[in-house]
Amino acid sequence: MEIIISPDSATASREAARFLAARIRKNPGAVLGLATGSTPVPLYREIIRRHREEGLDFSGCTSFNLDEYVGLGADHPASYRRFMQENLFSAINLPADRIHIPDGLASDIPAHCAAYEKSILDAGGIDVQILGIGSDGHVGFNEPTSSLASRTRIKTLTTRTRSDNAHFFDSENDVPHHVITMGIGTIMEARAVLLLAFGENKAEAVAGAVEGPISANNPASILQMHPTAKIYLDEKSASLLKRRDYYRWVRDNKPDWQRDC
Ligand code: GLP
Repeated sequence: MEIIISPDSATASREAARFLAARIRKNPGAVLGLATGSTPVPLYREIIRRHREEGLDFSGCTSFNLDEYVGLGADHPASYRRFMQENLFSAINLPADRIHIPDGLASDIPAHCAAYEKSILDAGGIDVQILGIGSDGHVGFNEPTSSLASRTRIKTLTTRTRSDNAHFFDSENDVPHHVITMGIGTIMEARAVLLLAFGENKAEAVAGAVEGPISANNPASILQMHPTAKIYLDEKSASLLKRRDYYRWVRDNKPDWQRDC
C-alpha cells in the first residue's frame, strides 16, 4: 500500500488524476473501474480539465462502474448511471458503447451479474480501479462481512450506509435496500487500485483499512493484499493513522522515476 497524504481533497484528487492520466497515456486502450459518491467528484473534474486542456483521450478506453441501486434506472436522479453521465461521461470522449454500469432494472439479477463479470474478463480486466470508502469501510457496496473473495452480486445495504447516502435522495426512506456491486474479488483483480478518502468521518474506516487487521469487518482492509494500492487522503481522513510521519517521508523522498508507477 502507498499512503499519500495531501493537505486537502483538491490536491489529493489532482495527484490521483496525475496517476490515472499517466496510465491512460501509456495505454490508450485502458480499462477503467469507476466509482460514484461525493469523493471522486473532484477527481472527475480534474480528469475533465485534462481532457479539455491537455487532450487526455478516452476514445480507446472502456469503463466498468462498481455498483448501482436495484430498482433505479437512468431516469432516476439518484441512480449511479445518471451520476456518471452528469459528473464525467457527458464531458469526456469515452464511447457510449464501452461504458458499463450494473443495470439496476435487470430482471434476472444473478444472470446480469455473471454477464457483468464476463464483460470485465472479455475487456481484458480492469487496469485502474477508482474507489471511495464508506464510513464503515465498505468499497463499492461490499458492506462489512462481505466475502473477501466475492464477485458481482446483489447486496443489502446497512442502515448506516443508507443514512450516509440519503443526501442523494429526497429522504432516507427513498434509499433502496438492495444494490448490485462488483465483488471484493472482482476489485482485487484490477491491476492498480486508487482509493480516495476525505474528511473526518472517514478517518476511522481509513485507520482500520490501512493499519488494522485484514478483515471482512472492514472490507477495504483487503487492499493490504493488493500489489498496487494507492490510498489518497487529506489531513482529516489521515488523522487516526499512527504512521503518518513515515508515509509522508516515503512520499517526499521517492525517486522521480517511481512517482507515477
Ligand atoms: C457509496 C458508494 C461507494 C462510495 C461510498 C462513499 O456507498 N457505493 O462506492 O465509496 O458511497 O460515498 P462518499 O464518497 O459520498 O462518501
